[in-house]
Amino acid sequence: MNIGDCEKELIASPRAWLITGVAGFIGSNLLARLLRLEQTVVGLDNFSTGHRSNLEAVRELVTPAQWQRFTFIEGDICIFDTCRMAVNGVEFVFHQAALGSVPRSLLDPIGTHESNVNGFLNMLVAARDAKVQRFIYAASSSTYGDHPGLPKVEDKIGQPLSPYAVTKYVNELYADIFARCYGMQTIGLRYFNIFGPRQDPEGAYAAVIPLWFKAIIRHEPVYIYGDGETSRDFCFVDNAVQANLLAACTRDPQAVNQVYNVAVGQRTTLQELFELIRGEVGGRLPVRDSEPVYRDFRAGDVRHSLADVSKAKRLLGYQPTHTVREGLKAAADYYLSLFAGDG
Ligand SMILES: NC(=O)c1ccc[n+]([C@@H]2O[C@H](COP(=O)([O-])OP(=O)(O)OC[C@H]3O[C@@H](n4cnc5c(N)ncnc54)[C@H](O)[C@@H]3O)[C@@H](O)[C@H]2O)c1
Repeated sequence: MNIGDCEKELIASPRAWLITGVAGFIGSNLLARLLRLEQTVVGLDNFSTGHRSNLEAVRELVTPAQWQRFTFIEGDICIFDTCRMAVNGVEFVFHQAALGSVPRSLLDPIGTHESNVNGFLNMLVAARDAKVQRFIYAASSSTYGDHPGLPKVEDKIGQPLSPYAVTKYVNELYADIFARCYGMQTIGLRYFNIFGPRQDPEGAYAAVIPLWFKAIIRHEPVYIYGDGETSRDFCFVDNAVQANLLAACTRDPQAVNQVYNVAVGQRTTLQELFELIRGEVGGRLPVRDSEPVYRDFRAGDVRHSLADVSKAKRLLGYQPTHTVREGLKAAADYYLSLFAGDG
């Protein structure tokens, strides 16, 4: 099914959804899309890394009638009763709640494990008991670990390189076992460096794209870990939203109980990324002409990451709509509205 048909189907027969991590970056983008498709949505978040302002921003993007179809629960997926309450009456779950960031997991493996493994298992059990139709969850490209193959193909993974990567791999193992043992329908989406509006530019664990937009707009130095040749398959958030919707819509039994790469299939080095972002901001504001500052490689980071997205294309009908450059243009609008005028 393509995304157009999937959206038509959802509008024609709206469903009830739960988005965990709804106040976060990807969760709030999923929320905006579902509400615009006239769906009924419950959102769960404990605001550990998400923000109320993301929910307010979504409210601005939808009509009052669409917003009425959203119910927010402030709560923690580490508490089973909260999960049970959140899945009540829900048909599809988009499970996004987790503590992201490899460096955070190296500093706080217990905290990461609690949300990412215990919380995940709570959500799976609650979804199983509530007999939800399908449980679609945020997996991660970090599961490829030290596997040298490029591009990354779903069935060839290496050893994890961080506690965060372990938690995301454990998610896949549990989802698979719940499919086998309890007949649940699960789909894991291995996100590769997703970026776009509402990705948090603040805090010690901010991702590279929001950090660099902020630095370049504010004429501050940009730091690169390593030599600049580290590469990633940066993927605009609309592509990730599309993959989630397609995962919910598919009726192909072969497509269910699988994991999929969600990326563009395009490799960008950090040096290239810096130039693209500087070009994007520089097209609209004066920017400093300085080069980035190089620092040591960061522990736990993989050197290169590039996805083979043919499985998602073949089984889900996934067709990324945004290249890195197009995504950065849209992200620039967002970060310029946040930071331009800061002085
Ligand atoms: N952004 C990426 O590039 C990327 C890449 C791979 C995987 N992922 C995964 O995608 C998901 C969403 O990531 P994101 O980038 O939107 O991050 P985010 O930090 O913006 O969103 C995560 C949300 O989950 C919430 N949350 C965390 N722990 C919780 C808990 N115990 N109970 C309730 N809510 C909790 C946070 O408050 C936040 O709103 C995560 O599972 C992340 O691991 C993201």
